[in-house]
Amino acid sequence: MHRVTPCTDRLADQKLAHTLTAAAEAALAAGAILRERYGKPHQITHKGAIDLVTEADLAAETAILDLLRQRCPAIGFLAEESSMLPAAIPSAPIWVIDPLDGTTNFAHHFPWFATSIGYSEGGSLKAGVIYQPLLDELFVAARGAGAWRNGEAIRVSPVSQLAESLCATGFPYDIRRTVGEVVEALATVLPATQGVRRAGAAALDLAYVACGRLDGFWEINLKPWDTAAGVVLVEEAGGRLTDFGGAPHSPLGRETVASNGRIHDALIALLDRR
Ligand code: IPD
Ligand code: CA
Ligand code: CA
Repeated sequence: MHRVTPCTDRLADQKLAHTLTAAAEAALAAGAILRERYGKPHQITHKGAIDLVTEADLAAETAILDLLRQRCPAIGFLAEESSMLPAAIPSAPIWVIDPLDGTTNFAHHFPWFATSIGYSEGGSLKAGVIYQPLLDELFVAARGAGAWRNGEAIRVSPVSQLAESLCATGFPYDIRRTVGEVVEALATVLPATQGVRRAGAAALDLAYVACGRLDGFWEINLKPWDTAAGVVLVEEAGGRLTDFGGAPHSPLGRETVASNGRIHDALIALLDRR
């Protein structure tokens, strides 16, 4: 796996190297399914009023679980389409899986979506893989081994002023309830930046912060599978993640802010309403 070995070669922990390779294989397998089904008619069901599931979410998740069960039988799962959200991230080794991040885009044939697989052990995130199948971009990271895109090392951007930054945000599925605070945050941050994007796949927003295409990102009500892999990517690329108050980011917390670190304090100063 030439796109993963630059990262795994830097790992003394061979078990973690094997884990990361398995995650990358699973993400590529899921990506092949999404690429094949993209743009065709979908079977769509609803998890909520605007929260969709397509047959591709389910097929991609099944493929990931099958492959990971085979390669790493001792690791458990927290997978979006087949797991309940736990009260706490378990300390046992687990995969944290979003088979298709950007389902609304995918369902509308809007070409912006990815597969995200994080790996947690002892309750903390150790490795992550995000794969964008249409651009064939594979992002991988592991603690102490850096962050990589298609085998090339990536770093967060050098932008130090919010006024020179390109940021991104997302709109949660409970937007009918949260629209006031979501729009207020956008109205506060947008005029302070060069632009704010809402592309519709939080995992890619995080991967893009990691590789410097975005300088900052924020969203409320993300789930562990949206952020697990992205957290490792952003931190290994030199970035920072917190809640809106600057406290350490929690996979089960309500608020996510990710940035290149340099604009972080300015961004949270605008977002924090405490
Ligand atoms: C969603 C996307 C979207 C974000 C939502 C997520 P899904 O994930 O990441 O960008 O705004 O909050 O739930 O449902 O497409 O996997
Ligand atoms: Ca998601
Ligand atoms: Ca999803």
